[in-house]
Amino acid sequence: MTVLGIETSCDETSAAVVNERTILSNIITTQTIHQDYGGVVPEFASRAHLKQLVPIINMALARAELTLTDLDGIAVTHGPGLAGSLLVGLGVAKGLALSLNVPFIGINHLEGHILAVAGDNPAIDCPYIAMVASGGHSLLVLVEKPFQYQIVGQTIDDAAGEAFDKVAHVLQLGYPGGPTIEKTAKEGNARAIDFPRALWGKNNLDFSFSGLKTAVLYYVQKKKRHGESFSIADVAASFQQAVVDVLVEKTFRALHAYGCRQLVLAGGVVRNTVLRREFESRCKTEQIALRIPDPILCTDNAGMIARAGLFRLQRGERSDYGLDVCPNLAIDQICS
Ligand code: KG4
Ligand code: ZN
Repeated sequence: MTVLGIETSCDETSAAVVNERTILSNIITTQTIHQDYGGVVPEFASRAHLKQLVPIINMALARAELTLTDLDGIAVTHGPGLAGSLLVGLGVAKGLALSLNVPFIGINHLEGHILAVAGDNPAIDCPYIAMVASGGHSLLVLVEKPFQYQIVGQTIDDAAGEAFDKVAHVLQLGYPGGPTIEKTAKEGNARAIDFPRALWGKNNLDFSFSGLKTAVLYYVQKKKRHGESFSIADVAASFQQAVVDVLVEKTFRALHAYGCRQLVLAGGVVRNTVLRREFESRCKTEQIALRIPDPILCTDNAGMIARAGLFRLQRGERSDYGLDVCPNLAIDQICS
């Protein structure tokens, strides 16, 4: 089975072609127009998808050395994400499926992130905990059976990636903040400033990153007010360490609470090398089997959507042409 995947939920326009064995192509363009605004501007995002998507689908097919008539199905993100952006991808997917007379399936973007790394068979890893940390989400998911997701912890305010983006804005490091903070932090001391680890003592698996972001803002404002110099690298490194500490600790609490021996990491924040290193080391100590996607499969990409679509289409699942976009779709929800 050969499946075309389409991802337009936020500011990446992406198309990919997969079959049972491999990802044949995965073309991703990140829209640069948002950089001047410190965040994604929804209308600009959907317009850019409208311009770029069809050429990118053609590139994905060319890279896979296939044509439209080789496709057996279409998979498309239909939520969560920006409504206008999702509509562009879903509209194109329906048009293609209709004209090629092949099935199409709407995929939950968060499931795509989780299945980006789930081998040839999504059942192989069950039961496992998935830690998803991206620009819009931070959650811990228990996957006891394939395609069944139970949220066991999540952020009560900002997502981890959102905190990186906002702190980068405070430090004037540019957007998106994750990569710039990671780069700046390399020159800094991660133990220089003791930023808060929220909900640490609480007996739950939730996260909170809003207070951490405010603590960084107050630290910087106070230094400036008193005319004191400070190291941006130390702030970046100490902030990054606080996020990593919380994500690692809460994830391991979830593994212990549900008796899981397998862990999947997913989402854009998982590109962070300090985070990857700390998870690898703790998993080694506790003998937990760890699956981390290649960095390219961590951030938004259609390869992960095409894989999830392939798994579901192989089970005989299909969406119908009445399928709508679902901007607030949760991982444990079904939306038609
Ligand atoms: O999964 P993703 O591409 O999009 C969403 O679904 O949100 O994640 C994007 C987020 C952004 O907030 C970005 O700052 C963060 O991932 N990110 C990182 C790194 N690279 C991207 N965060 C920390 N360290 C990184 N190296
Ligand atoms: Zn994402």
